[in-house]
Amino acid sequence: MLILGIESSCDETGVALVESKAAGVPLLRAHALHSQIEMHQAYGGVVPELASRDHIRRVLPLTRTVLEQSGSTLQDVDVVAYTRGPGLAGALLVGSGVACALGAALNKPVLGIHHLEGHLLSPFLSADPPQFPFVALLVSGGHTQLMQVDGVGRYTILGESIDDAAGEAFDKSAKLLGLGYPGGPALARLAEQGDPAAFKLPRPLLHSGTLDFSFSGLKTAVLTQAKKLGDELDARKADLAASTQAAIVDVLVKKSLSALTQTGMKRLVVAGGVGANRSLRERLNTACSQHQVRVHYPELDLCTDNGAMIAMAAAMRLQAGVEHANRDYAFDVKPRWLLGSDPNNHQTMLS
Ligand code: KG4
Ligand code: ZN
Repeated sequence: MLILGIESSCDETGVALVESKAAGVPLLRAHALHSQIEMHQAYGGVVPELASRDHIRRVLPLTRTVLEQSGSTLQDVDVVAYTRGPGLAGALLVGSGVACALGAALNKPVLGIHHLEGHLLSPFLSADPPQFPFVALLVSGGHTQLMQVDGVGRYTILGESIDDAAGEAFDKSAKLLGLGYPGGPALARLAEQGDPAAFKLPRPLLHSGTLDFSFSGLKTAVLTQAKKLGDELDARKADLAASTQAAIVDVLVKKSLSALTQTGMKRLVVAGGVGANRSLRERLNTACSQHQVRVHYPELDLCTDNGAMIAMAAAMRLQAGVEHANRDYAFDVKPRWLLGSDPNNHQTMLS
């Protein structure tokens, strides 16, 4: 079965083809991506209206590329999967609209996917895919969650951020340091040249006894420190970046270990954009090997948003029988959608 996946929830248009058999991990046949980073850079962040318009421009050419790369045609596609939420409403509408129009034109079923489930299952696209059950550390631009994952669609939230996400903490701190958008990778790059112990920054909720996170105080501490440095800031920027990264990574590593202890699990899966962070990977690798825990990551180029993870999540949901593709082409999108809640039950929806 061939599944076409379309992602357009934020500032990346991603399209991919995944092949799924009755059993075994589905296989990535091709994927193509267009990042809007350059376009949004001038504004210091994502401009939703520009994002939607760019998705419109990119989605069909990317679909053609993916079909060509895999030697397939649209008629070979069995299911069209798309990101239904959460994300920017206008951006989501582009991918959902195109996916449902393709499904209707080809008379093929469609399937709306939760963006975070895409991230969560993206390590199954790697050369070393995990096995269920595991603890997942989901660290994206908008979400920080620790989850117990017992199988496809069987997710229990163990803890989450009560304010800013880890990615947001990277992005906001980077902005304060004048590092532009997207701040995470820029701050991480600068941090390589700095001393992580140079400044003492807060690690909120580290000893709270819960698995929740709080990162909003960090940007204030970074701002206070930057102001204190005054003219010296430029010379000490790498040290401040390294100390900021160390504070975020410290909390993520310690809480992940607590989640593993609490659940008794010996497998950790990291997913989402911050999962690309080198320091986080190094610290987790060391900590996990000390505790005899196997740790899995998505391939570096599939940590941030992409179509492959959407096609993969659809393939795994269908294979596990937790959902069937449908011919309901009257799509709606879910800009705010809690993973695990029923998207069609408006009681649980905030959108
Ligand atoms: O998962 P993602 O692509 O988008 C969301 O679904 O939100 O994550 C994007 C986030 C951004 O906050 C970005 O700054 C961060 O991931 N990020 C990084 C790195 N690469 C991306 N943060 C730290 N270090 C990195 N190398
Ligand atoms: Zn994402």
